[in-house]
Amino acid sequence: MRTRSIAFLTAVLLGSPLAVSANCTIDLASDDMMRFDQASVTVSASCPTITLNLKHTGKLEAKVMGHNAVIAPSDVWQAAAQDGLKAGLENDYVVPDDARVVAHTKVIGGGESTSISFPGNALKAGTPYMFFCSFPGHWAIMKGELQVVE
Ligand code: CO
Repeated sequence: MRTRSIAFLTAVLLGSPLAVSANCTIDLASDDMMRFDQASVTVSASCPTITLNLKHTGKLEAKVMGHNAVIAPSDVWQAAAQDGLKAGLENDYVVPDDARVVAHTKVIGGGESTSISFPGNALKAGTPYMFFCSFPGHWAIMKGELQVVE
């Protein structure tokens, strides 16, 4: 029974283009230099779940050099970032329930990690998105492109 299950699982994995080609994970790292380690990441809207992992490898506290990762369409991300400033650290510098924001992590400080998951179909293939840190003063340079494929 166990052998059969493994054989079946293997067949499913090999037979599905999703399993071999879809990128369903975004791994971002940042440090005390106010930048992400990547300028562009690609994910698939076909993913049942997309996981975004953010790691802060610096030493500074969240209130001094906090980072989060916010995803929003390219045409509205700057407005969402500007409005997020007023929302404050208690709201992770994102307006609560901001319809422009697809997903966002909490703000973390040096040595911390955080992770969020959201459905792939929250993103539209072919639509340009940005990921950015909405901490005050960071988003101007702490940003990258999120490419979404089918
Ligand atoms: Co930041």
